[in-house]
Amino acid sequence: MTKPKTDRYYADEDWDVDSWVDVIAVEYETLVRAFPFGRVLQSLSGSGSLRVLDVGCGTAIFPGYLDAILPPDVRLIADLFDVSEPSLRRARDVLEQLPHFSVGRTYQALIEDLPTTLPVEIDLYDVIWAIHSFTTVNVAPMGAVYSRLLEALRPGGYLFVYQLTSESYYQKFHGLYRSEHPHGRDTAPYMEFEDSQKILESLGVDYEVYPQRFAHEIAENRVDLLEKYLQKVILDDTVDVGELFGPLLEGVYDSARERYVIPQSVNLITVCK
Ligand SMILES: C[S@@+](CC[C@H](N)C(=O)[O-])C[C@H]1O[C@@H](n2cnc3c(N)ncnc32)[C@H](O)[C@@H]1O
Repeated sequence: MTKPKTDRYYADEDWDVDSWVDVIAVEYETLVRAFPFGRVLQSLSGSGSLRVLDVGCGTAIFPGYLDAILPPDVRLIADLFDVSEPSLRRARDVLEQLPHFSVGRTYQALIEDLPTTLPVEIDLYDVIWAIHSFTTVNVAPMGAVYSRLLEALRPGGYLFVYQLTSESYYQKFHGLYRSEHPHGRDTAPYMEFEDSQKILESLGVDYEVYPQRFAHEIAENRVDLLEKYLQKVILDDTVDVGELFGPLLEGVYDSARERYVIPQSVNLITVCK
């Protein structure tokens, strides 16, 4: 198993993680408003708990936001899937504190290997989500991953994928890193919404798209935070991001508010099977 270099970026706690979480909170605030999750999950519930597969669960930021807006009677049993052992551990701890969630199985594996990792005899899931986790994946096997996820979904169940688009500054920063920095030249492009769209079209799957546009804001006097934010976007903390991204940052500097206002574009894809 070749791990993507994400472990330290999603599990490392030795810096000002809280400020970074504040910067990206808008992603999740926007997401939980983009779709009537509460109503839909309640209607799927019937009388029992919902079975959920969280693909690329990370440190379970999304479930925290979802938990806060769910009706009281909705209960979720989440299977967790991630390549990172520290993230799986942290996600389990987080979910155990959330009133609507409990944890089922955990799978430590690459998303690309999901078709052979998920047991064939698995009970069908009511809901599967992949929130910001189809990024550092090899696109080639993702058609098979989507097929397996849709197979693992019960009829009437929902798949949710939240994914950066080619218009996002995530991609602008990563594109520049790949074209201009020696470390970036050997790295694969990030998978983006448009790749998922092509896959879903080729599979003949009906889906809906909820485009989300928002900005990450970082005050000019938080140079430390800006640096960490940018290094996390490109998953490389050895780069002098000020030098590499200077011109891009000038374009998003709001002098009246003395802050960088970095536009992001992330789409929610929903599939109802
Ligand atoms: C941005 S975080 C996910 C955030 C999380 N879904 C949430 O809502 O809080 C990305 C996660 O995907 C995992 N990941 C990235 N690439 C992966 C891959 N190819 N296979 C398995 N896991 C991967 C990382 O370990 C990380 O935990």
